[in-house]
Amino acid sequence: MSTAGVNRSEHGADSFGHALRDGLRSEPRRVEPKYFYDLQGSALFDRICELPEYYPTRTEFAILRQHAGEMAAHIGPQAELIEFGAGSLQKIRLLLSALQRPARFVPIDISAEHLHAESQRLADEHPGLVVLPLAGDFSADLALPPPAPGSARRVGFFPGSSIGNFAPADALLFLRRCANWLAGGGLLVGVDLVKHPALLHAAYNDSQGVTAAFNLNLLARANRELGANFNLSAFHHHAFYEPKQQRIEMHLVSGRDQCAQINGERFEFADGQTLHTENSYKYTVTGFQALARAAGLLPQAVWTDAQRLFSVHWLVAPGA
Ligand code: AVI
Repeated sequence: MSTAGVNRSEHGADSFGHALRDGLRSEPRRVEPKYFYDLQGSALFDRICELPEYYPTRTEFAILRQHAGEMAAHIGPQAELIEFGAGSLQKIRLLLSALQRPARFVPIDISAEHLHAESQRLADEHPGLVVLPLAGDFSADLALPPPAPGSARRVGFFPGSSIGNFAPADALLFLRRCANWLAGGGLLVGVDLVKHPALLHAAYNDSQGVTAAFNLNLLARANRELGANFNLSAFHHHAFYEPKQQRIEMHLVSGRDQCAQINGERFEFADGQTLHTENSYKYTVTGFQALARAAGLLPQAVWTDAQRLFSVHWLVAPGA
C-alpha cells in the first residue's frame, strides 16, 4: 500500500476545539457532524451500522450485492475509484469484486488512524490493488492526487447516505465539485429515502443506546482532547424527524442548568438547552436526481430495494 501524499492531521484537536467553541458561542448552538468521527466515534458508528433498527447499511449492502455487476458495467474497466468518507471499507469490497482491473483505489476519510488501519487490511486482501489512503475533509476543497497512471476514468463512490449529512445547499456544492473532479467518469452515491417517520425514529433511537453513545461521544471527545469538563450524565441524546425539511435532527440536551469549561472558557447551559449535532436529510428518488442535475451530473441509473427504503444512483460526470 502506498501512503504518499497523506495528510494526517487536518481534523485534530485544533480544528475540533475551534469548531466546538464557535458552535457553543452561536445561537442556536450547533457543531458539524464530521467531529463525531474520532477513533471511538468511528467504532461506535460501525456498531450503529449493525443495529437491527438502522436499516440503511444492510439495505445498501443488499442493493450493492444484487447489482454490483450492473454498476461495474457502468463504471467500466481500469477506473480509478475514489471513496468519500471511506470508514471501514466494507462496501467497496462488493464493488471491487465486480470491477474489471481497477487502476487504483483512493479512500478518503477524516479519521486518519481508522483509515490507515482499514486501508492496510484491504491492500493485504487484494495484493494487486494500489490503495492510496488520503486522510482529510472531502467536504472542504480537498486536493486530489494526480490521476493514477493508466486509469481510464475517475469514479467517485459515496455510499451510506453521508450526502444526507450535508444541508441541501452544501450537497449541491459537493456534487458540483464531484462533477469537476470526476469529469469523464461518474459518481455512485447511496441516498436514504423519505419513509414512514416511525421507521426513521427507530433508526436514530435504537433500543441498545448505541446512537445515544455516538452522539454523547462528541462531549467525551471534548473532555479527552480539549481538557473540557462536560458531565456526560447531565446531557441526553435527542433525535426526531422534521418532515418539512425531510430530515432527522440529532441534539444533545442539557438535563439541568449547568456550566462546562473548555480551555478556561465557560459555557452555561440552561435546563433543556440543546447543542444541535447532526442533520440527516432524506430524499425522494426524483428529488435527488433533480439536485444531481442542478450540479451538472446526469442521472443514468438508480437501484432501490423492494421496500424503497434506500437508493443507489449512478450519475455521469460529463467530460471537459
Ligand atoms: C453517516 N451518516 C450517513 C449517518 C446517518 O444516518 O446520518 C450518521 C448517523 N447518525 C446517527 N446514526 C447514524
